[in-house]
Amino acid sequence: MRTAVYPGSFDPITNGHLDIIERSSKVFDKVIVSILTNSSKKPAFTVEERIEMIKKATAHIPNVEVDSFDGLLVNYVHEKKSNVIIKGLRAISDFEYEFQMAHANKMLAPDIETLFMMSSNNYQYLSSSLVKELANLNGSISELVPECIKQQIEEKF
Ligand code: COA
Repeated sequence: MRTAVYPGSFDPITNGHLDIIERSSKVFDKVIVSILTNSSKKPAFTVEERIEMIKKATAHIPNVEVDSFDGLLVNYVHEKKSNVIIKGLRAISDFEYEFQMAHANKMLAPDIETLFMMSSNNYQYLSSSLVKELANLNGSISELVPECIKQQIEEKF
């Protein structure tokens, strides 16, 4: 069974993340979407809220599992009996940072591959921060997040 791990903050999950999850679920037998719990970022949503939102947004994809982790990503990937990390790559701005992380992970665990999937055109400039800023200023987030979690995000702000 080919299992891939898609890690991130998902604060909150956006249509850009969902696009990567839907596409990678067609390539792997199982995709584990996993939230980093010990991030230095100050999240707007608790881990539980983020798990619940991802579960709702991916309810239509049977081979997706939602989880959380702390510590090193490569240790978690091994724990899950996987050897693939999926990352979405947007525009050019992500490249240098992602390149560095992929290298660090390769050094720590040579058996693990990082696979980059190019974000679809519509989502090249989307981020969770943009969603939070718009929601905070009462701008429409309809095009940016899954419909089933839109209200929960709006209520938070
Ligand atoms: N569509 C839209 N937005 C996307 C996206 C996509 N496909 N992919 C990423 N983003 C956005 C996110 O929404 C987020 O936006 P924000 O900054 O506004 O919140 C931003 O890109 C960064 O994504 P994030 O989910 O925070 O991930 P990251 O690239 O910072 O990496 C981990 C997160 C968990 C993979 C990484 O921190 C990690 O591996 N940590 C574990 C510790 C470790 O092992 N370190 C050694 C590795 S060097």
